[in-house]
Amino acid sequence: MDDTPLKESISSKDIINDIEENNSSKKKYHKKIIISSIIVFGLLAITIIVLIFTVFNKNSKKTRSLLEKLKKYKTPYYYYNTSLLNETVDELISLSKEYDLKIHFSLKSNFNVKVVNLLASHPEIGADCVSGGEVDFALKHFPKDKIVFAGIGKTDEEIENAVNNSIFCINVESFEELENLNDICNRLNKQINFGVRINPNIAPHTHEKIITGNNETKFGIYIDECEKDFYDKIEEIYKKKNPNYKNLNFIGLHFHIGSQITNFTDFVRLCKKIDKYVDGLNSRNIAITYLNLGGGLGIDYDEPTLHPIADFRTYFDTYRNNLTCLKKIGPNYNQNKKITLHFELGRSLIAQSGNLISKVIYVKQGIKKKFAILDAGMNDLIRPAMYGALHQIERVEPSNETEEYDVVGPICESSDVFAKNYTMDKLYKNDYVIIRSAGAYGESMASRYNFRKVPEGYMDYEFD
Ligand code: LLP
Repeated sequence: MDDTPLKESISSKDIINDIEENNSSKKKYHKKIIISSIIVFGLLAITIIVLIFTVFNKNSKKTRSLLEKLKKYKTPYYYYNTSLLNETVDELISLSKEYDLKIHFSLKSNFNVKVVNLLASHPEIGADCVSGGEVDFALKHFPKDKIVFAGIGKTDEEIENAVNNSIFCINVESFEELENLNDICNRLNKQINFGVRINPNIAPHTHEKIITGNNETKFGIYIDECEKDFYDKIEEIYKKKNPNYKNLNFIGLHFHIGSQITNFTDFVRLCKKIDKYVDGLNSRNIAITYLNLGGGLGIDYDEPTLHPIADFRTYFDTYRNNLTCLKKIGPNYNQNKKITLHFELGRSLIAQSGNLISKVIYVKQGIKKKFAILDAGMNDLIRPAMYGALHQIERVEPSNETEEYDVVGPICESSDVFAKNYTMDKLYKNDYVIIRSAGAYGESMASRYNFRKVPEGYMDYEFD
């Protein structure tokens, strides 16, 4: 065995030297890493800052110019986004062609003449009216053969006017009205197409004040209570069994069960009922060519930016897939006549394209809460006060602080509240705010309450 001590020559000193050398090269290496990391992170930070600055600058320029634009007219007023409206209309028209449907714009949702002119410039769109005033207005803007007229209380004058102008169809809402319509047609010696609005006794999932489809409401003929009488009467008219009805031309059925419906099972339930009534008519050899399904399609009030256009395709598909009467057409059904579906769309067509623009008058400190007091009130937009509706409210210039408010109007009514405990960008006096999704039943339901002016409505192109 060699037991010469190895160590002396290499050992401790060399090892220490080695370690020190190693350490120092490690240190150098670490230093390098640290310096390069600082450079990389520094560059990254600078890039991010530049990016944020650019985006922010762009945004603030955008909002600044929107704000400058909005200052053009005195608030409160309605502002209509025509690019969104055109997009909505294009989508609707292309679907109506694909599915072979007829669309009538529900004038009650918005009769601003500029909005109506835009819609009426499309020959595919007709009008749905519920008063003589709306019929007169529609006759000025839409072809008469695209105008339909419903309503439970049409006066003689209103009926006469509609008959004299030969509008496409009057939707009759009671047996009493049917007799009156007949008398008027005979007196004027004029024929008219009519449909019957049926009350199918369906309560859709929506706010109770906008349900129209159950028999607690005043609308349509309560067919479940009088199915046989109904078919008898229609048979008498349709087959001209009674010459007294020579001027009445029965073309089909009308339904409208309610508005702001987002649960499509409600429409499926309606389809089942419709099939039953069309079968009932068919069993008497009565054919229909007109099936008017009213309106009712809901929109997204909570996320208008995410869902600016209503889901028309699913809506139409729901009817197409569930109405079996459409599939049964043939020599033994509906006398081989084609049934055309008509829709009377209001909210889904115009709501998201309209906004109410308002200014903050005061931000008032209450005992427990802060009130943002706007110059718009319930007379300008009654939906929150009337149906507890929540429309999103946004400060035009976004800020980086938020605060919780009760956003209220200046009207002397405690119900004049747009939103309670609502967190939004911090507000100051004279700030501009946008109340979203207000294009339907906003301007058209405005009033002069508190001796105020009714708000004007402007199209975006009027701000250029
Ligand atoms: N057809 C008839 C016969 C109607 O009564 C209505 C609306 C429509 C069509 C259009 O329905 P839409 O597509 O807009 O759902 N002021 C309430 C809405 C009342 C709806 C009255 N009837 C609101 O602001 O929510």
